Amino acid sequence: MSDEIIERINKLRKERNAIIIAHNYQRGEVQDIADFVGDSLELSQKAAKIDADVIVFCGVHFMAETASILSPDKTVLIPDKDSGCPMADMIDADALRKLKSEHPTAKVVCYVNSSAEVKAESDICCTSSNATRIVASFPVDQEIIFIPDQYLGHYAASQSGREVILWHGYCPTHAKIIPPDIEQLRQDHPNAKVVVHPECRPDVIALADEVASTSGILKYCQREDIHEVIVGTEMGIIHRLEKENPGKQFFPISKKAVCPNMKRITLEKVQYALEEMTPEVKVPENIRLKAKAAVDRMLEA
Ligand code: 13P
Ligand code: SF4
Repeated sequence: MSDEIIERINKLRKERNAIIIAHNYQRGEVQDIADFVGDSLELSQKAAKIDADVIVFCGVHFMAETASILSPDKTVLIPDKDSGCPMADMIDADALRKLKSEHPTAKVVCYVNSSAEVKAESDICCTSSNATRIVASFPVDQEIIFIPDQYLGHYAASQSGREVILWHGYCPTHAKIIPPDIEQLRQDHPNAKVVVHPECRPDVIALADEVASTSGILKYCQREDIHEVIVGTEMGIIHRLEKENPGKQFFPISKKAVCPNMKRITLEKVQYALEEMTPEVKVPENIRLKAKAAVDRMLEA
């Protein structure tokens, strides 16, 4: 059955001149049919220079929105329109405007896990792979608001030696990764390294040997001197880790760390999206231009 679906997807992707891109947390079978798999920054960069008429974005809504912000002339499809990010929904443009009015000279650093409207109200975007560098790029006396992820904001602030005003958002999936599980795994696998995503809580980050974006985790695990790794992020990453590192062992800190929204995308829905050319993600032009300015500042930084 899935062979038939894959055949159909391959035929349609040619006919539509489409490219399929997938986030590192997608189901294994979706990653395997994608033209490109990566973290949020890599996917934004890819979307900015892709040569295709159609982008099928296998990820969550804000990621497809970012692709549409950068490539408004292309049709951006998300195979499941309800594939949202709860963290992105923890702040809206009105709440951000209110916060800005309380700190009128502050600059706003906005994690890409946010809506286009929120990006449009921000000075610069960041992803988990460049948050520290973006925060550090401001003069030391510049007041900085970091939204919406309190944990990524806390991590970027501590790494750059800056103080930032934090919003109280967080990722419910990464919140399932907790210190006692790391301590147990360290006991069971004393030679293993611990690598975690910066969306994890500070008490989890404190126990890690390395903190990195999803693609940063993949790169770290490719090191020749590393054979066993305790991994603190969404379970979808294990597929690529095992595929790209035969013979190495990976131990997820929590098997409960599954992002239900990422998993909404299936091969059947990719096929349907290409057949029907829906659901499309499009951002109103006035919002798009302002949001693009914040994304461009990040890509140029
Ligand atoms: P990355 O940019 O590290 O891929 O992270 C995206 C994300 O949503 C993590 O939960
Ligand atoms: Fe959002 Fe967390 Fe899912 Fe990433 S893992 S998309 S931050 S809910």
